[in-house]
Amino acid sequence: MTRIPNPGFGTFRLEGEVLKESVKSALAAGYRHVDTAQFYGNEAEVGEALHESGIPREEIFLTTKVWHDRLRPGDLEASVDESLARLDTPYVDLLLIHWPSPDGEVQMDDYLNALKSLQDAGKAKHIGVSNFTRAQIDQAVDILGEGSLLTNQVEVHPYLQNRELVAHCQERGIEVTAYMPLAVGKVMQDETLKAIATEHDANPAQIALAWIKARGLVTIPSSTKAEHIRSNLAAFDITLSEEEMARIAELDRGERIANPDFAPSWD
Ligand SMILES: NC(=O)c1ccc[n+]([C@@H]2O[C@H](COP(=O)([O-])OP(=O)(O)OC[C@H]3O[C@@H](n4cnc5c(N)ncnc54)[C@H](OP(=O)(O)O)[C@@H]3O)[C@@H](O)[C@H]2O)c1
Repeated sequence: MTRIPNPGFGTFRLEGEVLKESVKSALAAGYRHVDTAQFYGNEAEVGEALHESGIPREEIFLTTKVWHDRLRPGDLEASVDESLARLDTPYVDLLLIHWPSPDGEVQMDDYLNALKSLQDAGKAKHIGVSNFTRAQIDQAVDILGEGSLLTNQVEVHPYLQNRELVAHCQERGIEVTAYMPLAVGKVMQDETLKAIATEHDANPAQIALAWIKARGLVTIPSSTKAEHIRSNLAAFDITLSEEEMARIAELDRGERIANPDFAPSWD
């Protein structure tokens, strides 16, 4: 069991009416976790969709993330106030550092302690990080102590299984949230996933999601289609055999999709 509602609904690249309809469709289907970020430029519409859904705020687990150009002490807090105003909520359930400060420009001590202060002030129920390497996770735990960080949100899909990082986070009591679980749609063309899907009367996206769930990870697939939104949720009822898990393990090829020039040196 994860402490974060699973799956969540991802909103990267979604905007305007499409975003609002997609979030509302996800909430109507039963998702209770929505993932946004300052960088996505859609926090205001996410807030509107949450209100328009009519679902009480306390039943929804809402995540946002601080972009790497707002990590300086003082500015980080101001950026979170701006996020909360756009989301039209007094708190988020999870506040993440989106990427570690490029080249350590801002000290990790400074931005993690600012994040903790925001949690203490009630602006975030939980705090965490994203795109942190194993070494950075160790540094973060040294700064804030065990049990402070709820999750490390990182790229995980059948082509980038990230096994060492996942194991390391789990050993340190930090949940892993898998982003881009469908490799941004690529899994749909995969012959192995297609074959396993046929055996389960399912589709390849569902098999990728069932595999992530079986690994004990939280995930946040995104979609603009009501049918995909529903079938991605239904994937959580699929149980894969050990033999099927082993076949999917073979698909790892270290293929990283999110690798901007300010990314850390992956370890
Ligand atoms: N922390 C970070 O740095 C970071 C980085 C990237 C992403 N994220 C988060 O992770 C979330 C997920 O990643 P992502 O959106 O980039 O990629 P993704 O969830 O792997 O894939 C989304 C793509 O898959 C398609 N899709 C979804 N369900 C499908 C289905 N059942 N059948 C066929 N196609 C399907 C969608 O198209 P349709 O609209 O046509 O369904 C969309 O093009 C993001 O939205 C964001 O919240 C975080």
